[in-house]
Amino acid sequence: MLRKIVLGVLLILITAIAVLAVVNLTNASEPIPELEIAHGEEAELNTRPWWEATTVYQVYPRSFQDSDGDGVGDIAGIISRLDYIRDLGFETIWFSPFFRSPQKDFGYDVSDYYLPDPQYGDSLLVDSLIQEIHRRDMKVVFDLVLNHTSEEHPWFVESRLSKDNPKSDWYLWQDGNPDEPPTNWHSALGMNGWHYDTTRQQWYFSSFLSFQPDLNWRNPEVKKAMFKMVQHWLDKGVDGFRLDIFNYIYEDPEFTDNPFSLRVIPTQDYTKMFWQEKKYNMNHPDDFVLAKELRSILDTYDPPRFMVGEVFGDHKTLKNFLGQEQDGLNLVFLFDISALEWDADFFRDKIRRIEAFYPYPYTPTYVFSNHDRVRSITLLGDDMQKARTLSLLQLTLRGVPFYYQGEEIGMPTGNIPGDIALDPLPAAFDWLPDFAKDEVFNRDNCRTPMQWEAGPNAGFTTAGAESWLPVLPGADEINVASQRSDPNSLWQTNQKLLQIRNENAPLKWGSLRWLPNYDQGDVLAYERVYRDQTLTVMINISEEVKNLPLSDKKALIFASGEAVLEGGMLRLGPDSGVILR
Ligand code: NOJ
Ligand code: MG
Repeated sequence: MLRKIVLGVLLILITAIAVLAVVNLTNASEPIPELEIAHGEEAELNTRPWWEATTVYQVYPRSFQDSDGDGVGDIAGIISRLDYIRDLGFETIWFSPFFRSPQKDFGYDVSDYYLPDPQYGDSLLVDSLIQEIHRRDMKVVFDLVLNHTSEEHPWFVESRLSKDNPKSDWYLWQDGNPDEPPTNWHSALGMNGWHYDTTRQQWYFSSFLSFQPDLNWRNPEVKKAMFKMVQHWLDKGVDGFRLDIFNYIYEDPEFTDNPFSLRVIPTQDYTKMFWQEKKYNMNHPDDFVLAKELRSILDTYDPPRFMVGEVFGDHKTLKNFLGQEQDGLNLVFLFDISALEWDADFFRDKIRRIEAFYPYPYTPTYVFSNHDRVRSITLLGDDMQKARTLSLLQLTLRGVPFYYQGEEIGMPTGNIPGDIALDPLPAAFDWLPDFAKDEVFNRDNCRTPMQWEAGPNAGFTTAGAESWLPVLPGADEINVASQRSDPNSLWQTNQKLLQIRNENAPLKWGSLRWLPNYDQGDVLAYERVYRDQTLTVMINISEEVKNLPLSDKKALIFASGEAVLEGGMLRLGPDSGVILR
């Protein structure tokens, strides 16, 4: 009898563990829709907006260039480096926020949406930044944090004072017993998002960290104030916005509890983690409506402006942000592919999905690095050859490529441990067991100072100054100056590729067609077609040399590694790719 009970319990345990393992270690893949695109039927070039064909370089102002020796990057420093970005070949620059902020989340906690933080410069400098960018025929994109403000924003300071002040309803306040949050909602980070305020004796919600209270967008005054701010920057000539955690703006007005999920390990789109599905406080349908409202503001401006949303979800959800008539956000980040595996099947699958879900006139985006994640070169095992070929892929796909400062030289990810992080994230995960804590990324490691040259402080700040984050030890080897003078460097590869992209309509505007006979195997092969112009891209993602027959005579325009074109055959070296005409 006892044996039977023990066996039964064991069986139940084993089944439970198996179910949990399956739920947590697999990632469901969405069915791919039928591709309906009629290739080559794109609109005339002169009717298509510039942003569909732009290239974007992300600047993290704190770490780009310091001009006054305080160890923190600033706007004057950025201005002094604009020629650099132009010479590299990017058209658009996106700036992570430099607005006033207590800098607890380094600018993603805004306390004034109109003024720059004094450590970066003053309003006149912001004006000249915009002017200087436009003078170079380039475009400027600001980063807007619409979901939340800093707890030090005067709106929140006022709001938390009492239940009946003029700003009392500007944030998400709810009654409730001090030891029981009003709902079970998790923040984006997968932990309780409610915080009790002892003065107001109420709870407020924050989608990110406790010092970043969520605004109440259902209050018309909040919406009005935010739209006014958006218009202010558009009137100043800003060409576009990157919208921070745009899919956390609206929450369920009924404050319904989120459903339980067996998923503990975060899904790639963060919709499920730590036993919860964020059904009622993420990707709310009202976010899709807001996307359209903002679009209608932007569309009154000429020349056209654009928005790119930082949003997470499956492709079907992401498309809701873009709108059925392409009348929502112009672009969304497609982070799915940034998980980077150096494997042809991985890329084929991701690109195929992107092409199927976002056929023209949708414009996909390709992003592999930013200020929140492990740099792509690290995912490639610091292999410069792979990085050159990844650049070739990224700059020849259909869509807008986003680069993050330093990516053009293969700047590595740092090794600063979480327990001395300036980034507030690791501390927020202090409650995790040690083995899991190690999995939390200390974002300081992708925010270290830009490596301009060999020598003290890598040219980021004055020689004797102390930079806010340490310059990485390898900066004497990996830096802009040395790569600019090395014809085989990653920097040179990127510059050449950007030049080719800028000069060839198929790469900027054309459709993408897979080459037959390359549905599987180590070689990715596609054409970019615009009208009667075609370019062919072939990429070998393996350690072996590949001999590839070509159907017709082609000329080699660019190679990211070893490549020989001879007698109708292309010999492609390991991890190498080419552009052919
Ligand atoms: C996403 C931003 O990219 C990240 O840096 C920031 O910490 C959070 N949103 C909160 O604003
Ligand atoms: Mg919100």
